[in-house]
Amino acid sequence: MADRVFIEVTVNGRVRSVDVPAHHTLLEVLREEMGLTGTKECCLVGECGACTVLVDGMSVDACLMLAVEADGSTITTVEGLATDAGLSPLQQAFLETGAAQCGFCIPGQLVSAQALLATVPHPTRAQVEEGLAGNLCRCAGYEQIIEAVLAAAETDTRGRTASSGMSHTPVIADRAATPDAEVAPQ
Ligand code: FES
Ligand code: FES
Repeated sequence: MADRVFIEVTVNGRVRSVDVPAHHTLLEVLREEMGLTGTKECCLVGECGACTVLVDGMSVDACLMLAVEADGSTITTVEGLATDAGLSPLQQAFLETGAAQCGFCIPGQLVSAQALLATVPHPTRAQVEEGLAGNLCRCAGYEQIIEAVLAAAETDTRGRTASSGMSHTPVIADRAATPDAEVAPQ
């Protein structure tokens, strides 16, 4: 394989054409080539879930996927969950329940929760626990995180768009400049 490979991906609604080192992971390319630092770098071995993103709607550990494998795919990072109208109901619920403590795990938790609510809009507590089982929180803020996901699902029941990201207004701008620092550090 060549040292560098040209890939084209749609990230948070924006088509990105990037010349990437063949051995670089999707996580490296998102953070270093695209400036999307909301996706966190931690264990790098698929254990913590801090690097979770959606690739064609499936939650993926970006540290375990080569960027070249993502060629042609549609990717959603935590920056893509919000819309021009503001935070998604899921993000809002995380804020309101105080789910973010140090905040480091929150982008991954949000993306995994997004994937869960896209397939199970009204999960039970057990389903939330299972859906987020791959996302570790070193602050042990699991109770508030689970509470937030359940609250977002309940918000959806009341007629808003908790399972957004999949169904709310598509993100049409690169939201790299939108600080995920509202819920997590860079
Ligand atoms: S950094 Fe990818 S799973 Fe931990
Ligand atoms: S809020 Fe600190 S690691 Fe989860």
